[in-house]
Amino acid sequence: MLPKRPAPLLSSEQIAARVREIGRDITRDYAGKSLVLVCVLKGSFVFAADLARTIDLPLRIDFLGVRSYGQGTETTGVVQITQDLVRPIEHEHVLLVEDIVDTGLTMAHLVELLRTRSPASVKICALLNKPARARVAVAIDYLGFTIEDRFVVGYGLDLDDRYRNLPYVGVVE
Ligand code: IMP
Ligand code: MG
Repeated sequence: MLPKRPAPLLSSEQIAARVREIGRDITRDYAGKSLVLVCVLKGSFVFAADLARTIDLPLRIDFLGVRSYGQGTETTGVVQITQDLVRPIEHEHVLLVEDIVDTGLTMAHLVELLRTRSPASVKICALLNKPARARVAVAIDYLGFTIEDRFVVGYGLDLDDRYRNLPYVGVVE
């Protein structure tokens, strides 16, 4: 049996419009500087690819592999680095690009980790935020959308590594 199509929550048009606005804000805020976008794998690869193309600045992109889940929909609270950055970030302005901030544990851990490498700055850009589930306070500098406590997939987000290719964000029943 084919799995049910996730019910749309955010259309690809809505997402694209918001991504363009965020890109404009980032371009304005970092004017005269260069930037390292750190794409948190795997969930952020679609968002980071779209966002990068809306930013008009000298920019480098690097990837950080992170795993916080087993196969379910609950975080284990343990953040495992599965792939580290390729280049140093010392004296660089770093913008972490994340698909969704849920409990906040992943972002809190990553900001702390990257700060030990003496970057010029570290900020957070997240497509989605689920404040109902926050367990640690995380300041999101650039946010796409605040959503309710539903498990969402698509636009890079997965359920057991599936649905990442869905062009919109939807809810699995
Ligand atoms: P946190 O550490 O609890 O904030 O979880 C962050 C990570 O959990 C995100 O990078 C996502 O990969 C994953 N996650 C949290 N909520 C969802 C969801 O609704 N759908 C898909 N992945 C999610
Ligand atoms: Mg993820």
